[in-house]
Amino acid sequence: MKKIIISLLALTLFGLAACANASPIEPTPTPNPMVVQGQKVFNAHCATCHALVPDTIIIGPSLSGLATRAETRVEGQTADEYIQMSILRPGDYVVEGFNNVMIANFAKDLTSEDMNALVAFLLTLK
Ligand code: HEC
Repeated sequence: MKKIIISLLALTLFGLAACANASPIEPTPTPNPMVVQGQKVFNAHCATCHALVPDTIIIGPSLSGLATRAETRVEGQTADEYIQMSILRPGDYVVEGFNNVMIANFAKDLTSEDMNALVAFLLTLK
């Protein structure tokens, strides 16, 4: 009898362990349409000078990790504000080691919808 109880216990424990290991199957998250639009704007207007892979300089710095460092750039500016400013007034804060050659007419070229989408995309670059 004792043997049966022990083996039942062992089976239960084994079963629990097996359940804990089974990873839940989750559906692919729906891409945020604004972020998708923002990436298109990025590819069309920014990718000529900015890489998205780390430590890769084209003409401007890589924007990998931008969303994380953006809020540390200018005191008093949130990541969102810094990113907007660095697109609309790139000369206000010039990244160390680079020249202020970023085109400053994006404000005229981009619709406000494209601009918002672009910022939403850039904020995903953690
Ligand atoms: C002609 C090349 C060029 C183009 C096109 C360009 N940039 Fe830049 N960008 C630069 C350079 C050079 C710098 C570094 C100097 C500075 O801070 O202005 C920079 C800096 C930045 C920074 C600051 C990065 C940091 O680490 O603080 C952001 C953000 C940025 N660009 C976003 C964009 C976006 C978004 C676009 C497209 C709308 C764009 N850039 C288009 C050349 C460019």
